[in-house]
Amino acid sequence: MAGTAVASLASLLPRNVFADTTTAQRVVVHSDSEIATVRPEFHSHFAEHLGSCIYGGLWVGKNSRVPNVDGHRRAAVDYLRELGVPVLRWPGGCFADDYHWHDGIGPEAKRPKRVNIHWGAGVEENSFGTHEFIDLCRKIGAEPYLAGNVGSGSPREMRDWVEYCNYPSGTDLSQERAANGSPDPFRVRYWGVGNESWGCGGNMRPDEYAALYRRFAVYLREFGGTKPFLIASGPSGSDVGWSRGFLDKMKYELPDGFSMHYYEGGEDAPTEFTVAHMNEQLSIFAKVEDSIRLQRAVLDGYHEGRNVGLILDEWGVWDHIPPSDEKIHGALWQQSTMRSALAAGLGLNLFNRLADQLYMCNIAQIVNVLQSLLITEGIESNKCVRTSTYYAFMLFKAHRSKTALHVTTQDSSPLALSASASLGANEMVLSFVNPHSDADMHVDCSLLGASAKDGTAEILHHTDLNACNTFDKPDTVVIQKLPIKVDDVRIQFDLPRMSLATATLRLG
Ligand code: AHR
Repeated sequence: MAGTAVASLASLLPRNVFADTTTAQRVVVHSDSEIATVRPEFHSHFAEHLGSCIYGGLWVGKNSRVPNVDGHRRAAVDYLRELGVPVLRWPGGCFADDYHWHDGIGPEAKRPKRVNIHWGAGVEENSFGTHEFIDLCRKIGAEPYLAGNVGSGSPREMRDWVEYCNYPSGTDLSQERAANGSPDPFRVRYWGVGNESWGCGGNMRPDEYAALYRRFAVYLREFGGTKPFLIASGPSGSDVGWSRGFLDKMKYELPDGFSMHYYEGGEDAPTEFTVAHMNEQLSIFAKVEDSIRLQRAVLDGYHEGRNVGLILDEWGVWDHIPPSDEKIHGALWQQSTMRSALAAGLGLNLFNRLADQLYMCNIAQIVNVLQSLLITEGIESNKCVRTSTYYAFMLFKAHRSKTALHVTTQDSSPLALSASASLGANEMVLSFVNPHSDADMHVDCSLLGASAKDGTAEILHHTDLNACNTFDKPDTVVIQKLPIKVDDVRIQFDLPRMSLATATLRLG
């Protein structure tokens, strides 16, 4: 037994953090009760041609004065590579169902200009296309996920995209790819067959979409050993009617993945949340959990449905976005605050706990749009800030590829202490979220079936729920060390109101 007792917690945390409202929280980690692997894909991301996500966000262009690496904003590439992005979904979103991939290849000057009909009807210049996206993925270590156009596209267009990307050589399309600078196939595995086909992706009924999905799927083939993993457009939230309506009309083969979207809407402007509205928003994660369980159960009820990976393809807080912010920074530009980080923590804890139900989760979106990891100041500016959400993801990184464990907490109500645990070789990782605005917690955690030699912990915390990292003050909400007491099978630490923390334990 070894102890890592830290004498003065108070010296390391902001003042007034531990008032007399501190509650003791008992937690039990069941080391012998495994759930499933925490797939790194639970920490995946989404980039759409929307607002300043691509242009001015990830992409500044090769001739920009902003430091860039082959046109990609250097600071963004560095930050994202450091975090690790398991999978990156592109080009939409709604944009995907009106995107014609051929517009985005070949010499930049010859690429056509189109209207981005979904997001402000601005000019899409197509300087960021398939090659640029794959290059970005390679630079940040992400596996690419392409969303195909079912809404305004054709099976032929999408099968050609698969051939262009994955056929090794010798066909016109693979030669075209080579002529455009990439003789080696891109080997893209993940293919979305449309997006929100019940809405912006074609406003279809589930039976209509099922017929189209089946037709598209026939033509999306394995080339050069890369078998496409086909992802069908699933429901919004818990819409079982869509899921059953689609699945009932499948004839033989189900898709490999089924995409559901569940945003956590908010009443207030991102940096002006009231406590009541924060509580409402954070409580939505209980419904997200119910919806994931429900959709999983629906899939499992179909022949071979258990083999279909359930993908939470878009999630994250979607606040009331002031038009003034959109005017400056582009559509759906949203600041990330301490509240947003709590939301990220609740989501990531949930995915650990539902590791046996999920295949992949993509928060929306990676830069500047909705609950983003990074915000940038504009296409001419070098300012690129890591948001509170970036740091929340960083806190959960240690869970990737470990085995999620069952954890018991005293209270399972939506705003109670949230906890999850995972086990690796000689190491256990525990994550906690205290979403309360007015109650500090003392966490007293027992390990069943394991003992810890020592451990360290980190915390993301601010006493102001609206605190955020800005272009002028980029380090307002950042990860700090958290003192913990490790005593064999007992782990203790203080978790202030509005904080999330991860402890990494070395097991005996
Ligand atoms: O992420 C923003 C939009 O939300 C996406 O384009 C769409 O799929 C969803 O409705």
